[in-house]
Amino acid sequence: MARRPQAGLAPSRLALKRWLWLGLLVFRLVSLGYAVEKKVAKGKVGEKVGLPCCHEIPSTESLRNYRVYWQKNTTEVVLAYAEGKKISENERYDNRTELNTRNLTLWISPVEILDNGPYQCVVQHLKFLQNSVVPRIVCDEPVTLFITADFSEPSITAEVRSSSCESDDVVVRCSSHGGFPKPKISGVLNNASVVWNAIWVSESSISPYNVTGNLWLNVTEDTSLTCSIEYNGFAKSTSLLLKKRNDCVLPTIPPSSNVITASSIIIIVFLLAVTLAAKFIPRHVCSQCCMPQDSEEEDVKESMKTAELSKVTSETSSV
Ligand SMILES: *[C@@H]1O[C@H](CO)[C@@H](O)[C@H](O)[C@H]1NC(C)=O
Ligand SMILES: *[C@@H]1O[C@H](CO)[C@@H](O)[C@H](O)[C@H]1NC(C)=O
Ligand SMILES: *[C@@H]1O[C@H](CO)[C@@H](O)[C@H](O)[C@H]1NC(C)=O
Ligand SMILES: *[C@@H]1O[C@H](CO)[C@@H](O)[C@H](O)[C@H]1NC(C)=O
Ligand SMILES: *[C@@H]1O[C@H](CO)[C@@H](O)[C@H](O)[C@H]1NC(C)=O
Ligand SMILES: *[C@@H]1O[C@H](CO)[C@@H](O)[C@H](O)[C@H]1NC(C)=O
Repeated sequence: MARRPQAGLAPSRLALKRWLWLGLLVFRLVSLGYAVEKKVAKGKVGEKVGLPCCHEIPSTESLRNYRVYWQKNTTEVVLAYAEGKKISENERYDNRTELNTRNLTLWISPVEILDNGPYQCVVQHLKFLQNSVVPRIVCDEPVTLFITADFSEPSITAEVRSSSCESDDVVVRCSSHGGFPKPKISGVLNNASVVWNAIWVSESSISPYNVTGNLWLNVTEDTSLTCSIEYNGFAKSTSLLLKKRNDCVLPTIPPSSNVITASSIIIIVFLLAVTLAAKFIPRHVCSQCCMPQDSEEEDVKESMKTAELSKVTSETSSV
């Protein structure tokens, strides 16, 4: 709730800032008589990058007739030449800079994240008159250097917080680190774009960034998720298949327990049948095998017994 007004303010303030900055830039460029065309140079950390200047010395002349200043952000001299000699160097660019003596391109190798930013090339032509030197500005042009440092391949982790037969509550995290500049993080969920709840971490605006995106998903079926990190026109992405958990095990238990009870009933019935049969058959067999051995008297007794027995069996069978 408290976030909303802030979120509403921030973009408008940013837009205003951007507009002012653009306005100042346009004013500056127009006032200097240059077209509103920004020169850019791009390079990855560790590479050799050339910043183009605004003047090429004709073959009839030499660097001795010029003063050349390469500045960073209008405040810091990177490299300066006067009358063909190096007059200024910058400790931070120690041994990493080189000037092309024809087209005045400033080469930086290897470039660092700290080299990122706006530069300016200022060229003066010198006229030597008796005892004095008369400088004339030939050109003064900005160049922006965009340094890129690769991010690690994004890694995605998924943690199932709770799950039911219909859906899984999954917390997904996508992270990537060590790149520059501040990246964009985007996501695609089954062809539809999703917005990550992102956090960027960096020691300063000109240090490598770490980025982490979080998403809370309600997974109702197997879902494919892609996480993409974009920076200076480069992109890295990773995909993950979020499998719907098969947590419908509980409803499937009752049928299996039914089977158990049904089979145990069958077994009990069978055992009962067997015990009953065991009670009946031995006596019956015995009564028959005993018959020939016994006398007539006994025979009568026996027949009475069998009558009793058959009575019993008829009782049991009626059960
Ligand atoms: C300047 O000269 C170098 C070497 O000849 C070349 O690589 C570079 O592209 C040139 N730059 C411009 C802006 O002409
Ligand atoms: C770098 O510059 C220093 C002096 O500023 C010099 O002593 C050293 O040899 C240079 N290193 C290389 C690799 O050119
Ligand atoms: C450029 O210089 C201004 C002050 O002169 C500073 O506030 C700003 O942060 C600098 N920008 C970069 C990219 O170094
Ligand atoms: C995503 O889109 C492509 C083409 O637009 C389609 O072929 C594919 O089936 C879609 N996938 C899903 C999961 O909707
Ligand atoms: C960025 O992540 C890397 C690797 O996980 C870690 O070593 C580094 O300290 C992190 N940087 C910041 C500024 O948090
Ligand atoms: C997840 O989605 C299902 C179906 O769309 C819904 O019934 C359920 O309430 C949702 N769960 C949560 C936690 O949003």
